[in-house]
Amino acid sequence: MKKKLMAMLLSMTLLGSLGGCGVTTTAPGGADDKNSSSATSDSNTSGKTIGILMPTKSSERWIKDGDDMVKGLKDLGYKTDLQYAEDVVETQVSQAENLITKGVSALVIANIDGESLTDVCAKAKAANIPVIAYDRLIKNTADVDYYISFDNKLVGTQIGQYIEKKLDLKNATKSFNIELFAGSPDDNNAHMLYDGAMEVLKPYIDSKKLVVASGQTKFDEVCTLRWDGALAQNRMENILTANYSKGKKVDAVFSSYDGLSRGIVEALRSVGYGSADLPWPVITGQDAETATVKSIVKGEQTQTIFKDTRKLSAQAVKTVDAVLKGQKAEVNDEKTYNNGVKVVPSYLCTPVSVDKDNYKKELIDSGYIKEADLNK
Ligand code: BGC
Repeated sequence: MKKKLMAMLLSMTLLGSLGGCGVTTTAPGGADDKNSSSATSDSNTSGKTIGILMPTKSSERWIKDGDDMVKGLKDLGYKTDLQYAEDVVETQVSQAENLITKGVSALVIANIDGESLTDVCAKAKAANIPVIAYDRLIKNTADVDYYISFDNKLVGTQIGQYIEKKLDLKNATKSFNIELFAGSPDDNNAHMLYDGAMEVLKPYIDSKKLVVASGQTKFDEVCTLRWDGALAQNRMENILTANYSKGKKVDAVFSSYDGLSRGIVEALRSVGYGSADLPWPVITGQDAETATVKSIVKGEQTQTIFKDTRKLSAQAVKTVDAVLKGQKAEVNDEKTYNNGVKVVPSYLCTPVSVDKDNYKKELIDSGYIKEADLNK
């Protein structure tokens, strides 16, 4: 009953939230805000709270994403309610439901399981609350308004091409041993990334220039639930024990995320890699996390993908603001991200491959990571 009342109140006061209707100056009310901004005179934003749901604090990038979005929204005069769910799907679903009940003006969600939010999005829609999928596509719903992400297939292509170049596969006359680590099966990004990488690597696997000694090449065999580094470490340890005794060595590890790569590095270290006799293989990653950049500088991990979360969060802020002002938000892709029900209008940022040679230019000079943090 309370929810119904709130929904009615919201649809009356938030008529302008989507679809180019008139701009509302009425605050939704009822939103309790932990991070409320003190100074704003903008009647479009004043009193409006934006709910931001991030998957976990266990990965550095999501902390940056959340903090940057809070700052960007506050600068525009919005209040924010930022919450993390420590990778528990049910927690995120109930956080979203609570924010809808509280009457936030918009929801920005980086989901944990892309298929878990169909009901949540329907409730948001009923309450006239726009939903923006952040970084990860929300699937199986018509009630998601925009998708802000990186070109996820290109992330995979860049990783694949890095391995191709580093091993000089085009010209190589010998074969190399490689093992493959994909991301979480419930994250659309993990699939797109793997597809992008395999477009580059599969021809070499087929021609046996790349040999996957474990035989594990299907997404279902190489994926890592919730992008969990401990699972990747464990799988790598098992692969090493079962397939790399008797002098056979790993030449490359395709890894989809820095957190996985750190686990993989530990598994390799435990059997002697990183020594004069057994140099580190080429090890890829994603996110350019500080711990990983340190590892790259030390020569353990080889490469990562830099996805500038400052750009992503700024784009999300712009999108929220446009939507709440009844304007059409900026998009640059209206065909790729079919979520099973509709193609979600998307804005995609461009990832950059980073290794020892360009990390200073891309990460330090751009201010993404402080040099001092690499020496801590
Ligand atoms: C993101 C990656 C991140 C991974 C694990 C993916 O959805 O796109 O940037 O590395 O999740 O958190």
